[in-house]
Amino acid sequence: MDSLLSLLEQAHREIEALNDIKGLEGLRIHYLGKKGVLTQTLKGLKVLGEEERRATGQNLNEAKAHLNEWFTAARERLENQALLKDTVQKIDVTLPGRGEGQGHLHPITQTLARVEQYFMSCGFLVAEGPEIEMDYYNFEALNFPRFHPSRALQDTFYFKDGRLLRTHASPVQIRFMETHEPPFQMMASGRVYRCDYDVSHLPMFHQTEGLMIGKGICFAELKGILDDFLRFFFERPLKSRFRPSFFPFVEPGAEMDISCILCEGMGCRACKHTGWLEILGCGMVHPNVLNKCKVDPNKWSGFAFGVGIERLAMLFYRIDDIRLFCENHTRFLKQF
Ligand code: PHE
Repeated sequence: MDSLLSLLEQAHREIEALNDIKGLEGLRIHYLGKKGVLTQTLKGLKVLGEEERRATGQNLNEAKAHLNEWFTAARERLENQALLKDTVQKIDVTLPGRGEGQGHLHPITQTLARVEQYFMSCGFLVAEGPEIEMDYYNFEALNFPRFHPSRALQDTFYFKDGRLLRTHASPVQIRFMETHEPPFQMMASGRVYRCDYDVSHLPMFHQTEGLMIGKGICFAELKGILDDFLRFFFERPLKSRFRPSFFPFVEPGAEMDISCILCEGMGCRACKHTGWLEILGCGMVHPNVLNKCKVDPNKWSGFAFGVGIERLAMLFYRIDDIRLFCENHTRFLKQF
């Protein structure tokens, strides 16, 4: 019994001291192999009497189980060690990571920046307003009477408390007029929301709104500045035309078209074979709107316009599906 215990102790020490997998196999054979120490001892049991043989045999089997357990644990430890060593040798952990491509601004942000660059250079101040808006600023003050069918033009997301997600950037002009004395020129860009979704509509998109109020401002100023802006934006001379259109907050109201930049006015699918592309809404600020903001319409006049940034970006970069802008595929975004 004593010698078996010291044999186990010695084996345990030797197994713990192992530091490579080759040594492990040798040691295992030494103890547990066919001609190993334990097997030999088991064989030696034959000379003992019945009683003694059974007791010793049981002890030896327990010892064997211990040894097996220790060898398995040691194998695991040594294999992990070898793997780690191998990995460390092959991988230079001090190298910088791969695929660390440089990012850049989103095409919509780039387009917005170019629009703002133009109007800022003309002296327009940049204003901001909330995306969760009150009915008053989104509709009422913009001359959409309550229950008037003109409200149905915009598919609005409402909150239970009556507030809403602004459907256009125009509420910012009201907020600006309430707090500033004319003359002034301002612009406001940001997200707007409408319940709509297909290849050319998103439930959230971007608009830039412009407003100029002064003495004797007339449609000619509006036409001049928008013509110049679109020439700047599309980097080429363009033909334009104004079509009468209805927006409750302007009178007269118009939609501005440019000659199709894809077919140069010859007619193609993008312009529905008309040679013209609809680009923005605009008009002379309605006296009702000026009155609501305590701006005297007998003294002041002005124009406003609103342009969709996604629309501009799609035309400028020739993209035929608006949804690409919000899917965030790097293969798409990398091109800008
Ligand atoms: N707010 C209008 C829209 O979203 C655009 C517009 C702005 C039209 C200013 C006229 C004047 O459709």
